[in-house]
Amino acid sequence: MKSQATAGGSAKLTIGDRSLDLPILKGSTGPDVLDIRKLYAETDAFTYDPGFTSTAACESAITFIDGDKGVLLHRGYPIDQLAQNSNFLEVCYLLLNGELPTASEYERFEHNITYHTMLHEQFDRFFLGFRRDAHPMAIMVGAVGALSAFYHDSTDIQDPEQRTISAHRMIAKMPTIAARAYKYSVGQPFVYPRNDESYAANFLRMCFSVPAEDYVVNPVLERAMDRIFILHADHEQNASTSTVRLAGSSGANPFACIAAGIACLWGPSHGGANEEALKMLKQIGTPEQIPEYVAGVKDRRYRLMGFGHRVYKNYDPRAKVMQQSAEEVLREVGDPNDPLFQVAKELEQIALHDEFFIERKLYPNVDFYSGITLSAMGFPTDMFTVLFALARTVGWIAQWAEMIEDPSQKIGRPRQLYTGQPMRDFTPIEQRG
Ligand code: ACO
Repeated sequence: MKSQATAGGSAKLTIGDRSLDLPILKGSTGPDVLDIRKLYAETDAFTYDPGFTSTAACESAITFIDGDKGVLLHRGYPIDQLAQNSNFLEVCYLLLNGELPTASEYERFEHNITYHTMLHEQFDRFFLGFRRDAHPMAIMVGAVGALSAFYHDSTDIQDPEQRTISAHRMIAKMPTIAARAYKYSVGQPFVYPRNDESYAANFLRMCFSVPAEDYVVNPVLERAMDRIFILHADHEQNASTSTVRLAGSSGANPFACIAAGIACLWGPSHGGANEEALKMLKQIGTPEQIPEYVAGVKDRRYRLMGFGHRVYKNYDPRAKVMQQSAEEVLREVGDPNDPLFQVAKELEQIALHDEFFIERKLYPNVDFYSGITLSAMGFPTDMFTVLFALARTVGWIAQWAEMIEDPSQKIGRPRQLYTGQPMRDFTPIEQRG
């Protein structure tokens, strides 16, 4: 990938009696960046930015977020337009290739994904090694990492063809692995993928059908599932994506890198928040309990899960679409007056008008309504983050592939502000104390 950034002048940095001109780089949209690559060599100083709040770690042309305006674009296309008019596989193609596919490109891509959905038969035995009560995310971390043991014919990261095959394999096999993680936990037989169904319908079938009866995929749930996958497909340089990039920067194979991303996603401040948000809504229980709960948030006893975001200081555009999906799903298979949905909507209204949340720019994020939707669709809480991982796989792969093709990327190696002991001599044990 050739750099698309343009020069935009420079900024002068003075440290004591030394000064340095830092080049300013301009992207196509979004904030300028100061190029500090020569800072250490020329001034003997590092920058300090825990949590990377002001640091651009890479150049990317995949996803753009304007957190103040609540905008999310994939390859330039707004997320709400994609959720409304596209489907998940088309979004996968877009993320991986930069443009929407033509009809024939789409047909070929769909075929490639569909025909990679089966797992090596021996892979199924791998699941049996886990305890039945294992968290499905624990199974995902292990199983996806194990893909590199089964498909080592596509682990040469220098070979573009192998990179493409591993990308297709992961997008295709992730639903099969996720559905097996679920089936294993409920003690039901694994269901094999079907090539005549859409990506979302095939996944729902592998999760919810049993050999004892016919299963017809509900088209409303199929559409909702597909939309949920679109909403989670990519989100720029978040914690799990940065984990994938960092793991990949050492030359690790893509399956291992995606397993690292899944591990990071599991945390409650990231992908695990959808699980926590539903637990919170259940804990609140009824709209009457909301004021007491909000008081606890203001006393900092706990956080409002599904609220707040490092980048969005406005309504998360994905949350709007998710709220719509929640309504559609509840109308179809649940109760549109579902008490948890009522609690969520009322909590949102209260928070949106409360000074504490306004001041801190805390708005609902994608996880606020996803738990209610997934729960109504029949998924147990501990599968929520698994579905997130399934959908985010394409984003991780697109970002990983972009990094591999970027000649300016080096192994990721942050520095530190050391505050420990300076050098001292070893003391023999009898002289200590
Ligand atoms: N509830 C209550 N207060 C909050 C919340 C929240 N959900 N989020 C942030 N705050 C408050 C903090 O207490 C802090 O207040 P203070 O300045 O008075 O101390 C202020 O807002 C800033 O909070 P930070 O933690 O500095 O914000 P940061 O950008 O680091 O955190 C995060 C972002 C982790 C997402 C946070 O908002 C959070 O914990 N949210 C709940 C978990 C959640 O929903 N995560 C999902 C994120 S989206 C995703 O991964 C798909």
